[in-house]
Amino acid sequence: MENRSLVSIADHTREKIEYLIQMAQEFERRPNRHLLEGKVVATLFFEPSTRTRLSFETAANRLGARVIGFADPKVTSGTKGETLKDTIMMVSNYADVIVMRHYLEGAARYASEVAPVPIVNAGDGANQHPSQTMLDLYSMYKTQGTLDNLNIYLVGDLKYGRTVHSMLTAMRHFSPTFHFIAPEELAMPETYKKYCRDHGIKYVEHTEFDADVIAGADILYMTRVQKERFTDLMEYERVKDRYLLKLDMLAKAKPTMKILHPLPRVNEIEYSIDDDPHAYYFEQARNGLYARQALICDALGITLEDVKNDKTIIL
Ligand code: CP
Repeated sequence: MENRSLVSIADHTREKIEYLIQMAQEFERRPNRHLLEGKVVATLFFEPSTRTRLSFETAANRLGARVIGFADPKVTSGTKGETLKDTIMMVSNYADVIVMRHYLEGAARYASEVAPVPIVNAGDGANQHPSQTMLDLYSMYKTQGTLDNLNIYLVGDLKYGRTVHSMLTAMRHFSPTFHFIAPEELAMPETYKKYCRDHGIKYVEHTEFDADVIAGADILYMTRVQKERFTDLMEYERVKDRYLLKLDMLAKAKPTMKILHPLPRVNEIEYSIDDDPHAYYFEQARNGLYARQALICDALGITLEDVKNDKTIIL
């Protein structure tokens, strides 16, 4: 049987990404439907989340599915020693698809190999966050009118930030030029730079972060320093406030440039920027609903044609 899990965005072709963007557009036009009536979606969150869990659950609810799951592993039998495999096997008895966030890199891949139902990776450690990448790509497409030949500036924690790692792999189909802006301690790992070289992805590295450096950006993708991934909290304290985007730094920005951030924001973007036309991070999070509706449907074998021909729309 075909495995419909979404573990890594690197598994998707350009055509598949464009297809999912089209599906997200359909859901943005008409988000409320009964397409998933009778289905159960499980959300298993072994790590904290606001946007990812709530937008997946909203996506399922707006499509008529029912939702089960947990937001805190401390309330599960994992605390009694139950393994991830047994947890996944149990939940597969109850749900048609499992959305899972886990602190271990590779947990989603493992779950997809043992589960009889599709797994959607909602973030595994510092590795991948493919549903975030789908909403990031959808946001870039909406604001720039294309995914091709964009200048994408990734700022902040490029070492532990799984969203930037996912984005690199997805963008290999679209001839981007990446600019990596990070302190040395949080630089893009060599393995991802090698990935860029192997796939012909252009990149430039910077440690400076100012108006001149970001003047050429189509997308300025800010990230939070991932405190939870540091083994040395002293090192976190040293780097946590290194890059703060201030309003005056946008003086030379292209008029069409958009600021994205996967959120949560801690101290990376000054609040005065929220009302600036370059700011797009709240709309970006909203796009997550439509992108995740598309991903749940895809995992359950519902096609773009099914969505286009759907007669269950609720106005
Ligand atoms: N972007 C993101 O993953 O946010 P949450 O951790 O709140 O889900």
